[in-house]
Amino acid sequence: MKKLMLLGSGELGREFVISAKRLGCQVIAVDSYKNAPAMQVADEAEVINMQNANSLKRIVKKHQPDLIIPEVEAIHTETLAEIEKSGTNVIPTARATHLTMNRDAIRDLAANELKLRTAQYAYAESLKELKEVAQEIGFPLVIKPVMSSSGKGQSKVDKPQDLKKAWEFAKKGRGTRVKVIVEEFIPFIGEITLLTIKQQKGKTLFCEPIGHIQESGDYRESWQPYKMSDTLLKQAKKMAKSITDALGGSGIFGVEFFLTKDEVIFSELSPRPHDTGMVTLISQNFSEFDLHLRAVLGLPIPKIELFAPSASAVILAKKEGTPKEYKGVAKALEVKDVDLRIFAKPQAYKGRRMAVALAKGSSVNNARKKALKASKEVSIRF
Ligand SMILES: Nc1ncnc2c1ncn2[C@@H]1O[C@H](COP(=O)(O)OP(=O)(O)O)[C@@H](O)[C@H]1O
Ligand SMILES: [Mg+2]
Repeated sequence: MKKLMLLGSGELGREFVISAKRLGCQVIAVDSYKNAPAMQVADEAEVINMQNANSLKRIVKKHQPDLIIPEVEAIHTETLAEIEKSGTNVIPTARATHLTMNRDAIRDLAANELKLRTAQYAYAESLKELKEVAQEIGFPLVIKPVMSSSGKGQSKVDKPQDLKKAWEFAKKGRGTRVKVIVEEFIPFIGEITLLTIKQQKGKTLFCEPIGHIQESGDYRESWQPYKMSDTLLKQAKKMAKSITDALGGSGIFGVEFFLTKDEVIFSELSPRPHDTGMVTLISQNFSEFDLHLRAVLGLPIPKIELFAPSASAVILAKKEGTPKEYKGVAKALEVKDVDLRIFAKPQAYKGRRMAVALAKGSSVNNARKKALKASKEVSIRF
């Protein structure tokens, strides 16, 4: 029986654990707080600060897992490299977790080494530098701390006068040394996640592209398939293959692209299941979590099948508190081909993702309508 250690125990981890338990794996779920979503369905749990090298080493020594599977970015990746060196398999590789946690590292790999089309970009480590590079890139532009996720510290800047505010915002809570990436703003017509599965043996597989809408740093809706031309999809697949090959290892990757009328622009990627990929919990014969599991265990993936156009819509907490009950669940589930995943997070805060509504439909539009409607039915009683 394989022993898996999951680093990060949120909603994506929870679904991954369910997939792993179904194939008889033993799972230790790790996060910084008790009773996290994945811990509720795992065999064992550890509550530690995953940015702390000693704590990470201690629990790896204690449990001796066969595989270490990161679910989040914020992990002490240098320690993952050490653990990998001493013989424990890190998914997909310690190097991949390190590179993808640093926007500058992954962007330099994509743009400079692999020559993938990206937004024009530069880095800045002071307001003065920011003003200089902003001149070269032009407005509007997007500023992001190189180490950040979920849109934290990110802003769009329309004019030079607003650079100072954006710099202060990026700096907030990040100590003294801050590095930001400054990107040309891409007026995209859509953005997608291309779930890319790198297998131990066998060729790289792709799911149908997933379209999504982002707001204040988090995704709100996703749907599959995203309708795009064969030419652009082929380009996206080629780029996804190129960067996942460069990262190595096995597992699923969520490769993000911006689309313009006639171009695919690489944005970033996660070396793990992607939040927008939760739609695959209803849309496919194998969810992104099943696929990740099979890939990391070296199990076959015969054929990925899309059942029907599908969508997901997130359910966010409106305020802080301890959820007592989820209301409107029955109403949401009255509709054919609608389902919910309630993450059972012990604490809510304003804007925290607490659940997701899933729907299959006769068309993408129909599925999106159903998912959105179901998401609106559900509310939290505190
Ligand atoms: N250069 C850009 N042009 C236009 N929109 C952008 C750009 N960079 C980011 N965005 C928007 O912000 C979202 C989050 O940015 P992303 O780089 O994916 O950061 P995160 O790691 O927080 O997901 C993107 O999905 C996209 O909607
Ligand atoms: Mg992103």
